[in-house]
Amino acid sequence: MTIPVFKPYIEKKDIKNINKSLNFGWLGMGKDVMNFENELSKYLQLKKNNRHIVTVNTGHSALHLAVLLLNCKKNDEIITPSFNNISDIQAISTGNAKPVFCDIDVNTLCIDLDKAEKLITKKTRAIVIMDYDCFLCDHDKANYISRKYGIKIIHDAAHSFGSSYKGKKIGTFSDICMFSFDPVKPLTCIDGGALVVKTKKERDMLHRLRLIGMGQPAKVMYKNKRAWTYDVKTQGYRYHLANSHAAMGISQLKKIDMIKKKRINLCKRYNQYLSNNKNIIVPKTNFENLIPFLYYIRVLKGKRSQLINFLKRKNIDTGIHWQPGHTFSYFKNCKRGELKVTNKISKEVLSLPLFPELSEKKVKYISTMINNFYEKK
Ligand SMILES: Cc1ncc(COP(=O)(O)O)c(C=O)c1O
Repeated sequence: MTIPVFKPYIEKKDIKNINKSLNFGWLGMGKDVMNFENELSKYLQLKKNNRHIVTVNTGHSALHLAVLLLNCKKNDEIITPSFNNISDIQAISTGNAKPVFCDIDVNTLCIDLDKAEKLITKKTRAIVIMDYDCFLCDHDKANYISRKYGIKIIHDAAHSFGSSYKGKKIGTFSDICMFSFDPVKPLTCIDGGALVVKTKKERDMLHRLRLIGMGQPAKVMYKNKRAWTYDVKTQGYRYHLANSHAAMGISQLKKIDMIKKKRINLCKRYNQYLSNNKNIIVPKTNFENLIPFLYYIRVLKGKRSQLINFLKRKNIDTGIHWQPGHTFSYFKNCKRGELKVTNKISKEVLSLPLFPELSEKKVKYISTMINNFYEKK
């Protein structure tokens, strides 16, 4: 059996919760969605930080709506790391703005904010900052830049749900913060996402945008009911979350502390077994205050493909996060300036298996195989 890179952590109690929702018979957006939002809000400490959460059907939809909240005009620009999920880049262009690619920091693999600052022009409306795996962006600096230039920060926290920055829960301090609950994330609701915003006005706008523009209040649907008459005042999208998916999210959230503990432990084991290997670079962190989504190594000296194939023969699957945006033909014109670090790092990163049911023994096996690959040379 091949060891996969990702495996969702689904137990009988998750299925039971979904079945309960299905048996109730209200499959669309309803009470479970409200409950999921309330539970998320509690867990993320949103109320005391004056933040509002709106769930949607994917992280990508959340990003699209985040961009729409900016009301971009033709030729407006949004800076994003090229080393990002394609979802962010598509969300920018679908939201009427032009992505402008920025380089990343060599240590954190998050956006290099010094370089981002140099890319700011009169057309810049926002910077997308994305916490990459076991590292968080320099959020203080992002906040400083945002205020200095009067531009928004769209915080992609797809990798950092449940993590904390300087004692503050992710989601509690950004202009707009996005989460993904897709099938492989530490917290999955099969497929889903969320946006955290600062004002009730933005929350209400998001309620309309996610419900094809329909003006019926979310609180009606949260009772598993719907209004038959309403106004439509805006363009909208069918982006809302379904009850059964929310039920899965609620169930997963109940075990998030255990998921966190398991993931941190496995990452620490990898670092323990691999940090002496001079042919690779491991993430230099103790993984505290995080719920790591990926565990990646940087494979030096152009050996990544060989290592991938070697591990495949040992029944170990690996992943690449990611191919940078400027290498895609559709977005090749969005490069502005040097992307030296991105070009180097994107040829090196390799994601290793990481999921709660992965045993320490398997981590040792995977690490031993990686070390063997080099010793046999
Ligand atoms: C950094 C980042 N942003 C956005 C997304 C998109 O989220 P979703 O898959 O829920 O649409 C992902 C998904 O993996 C991601 O890793």
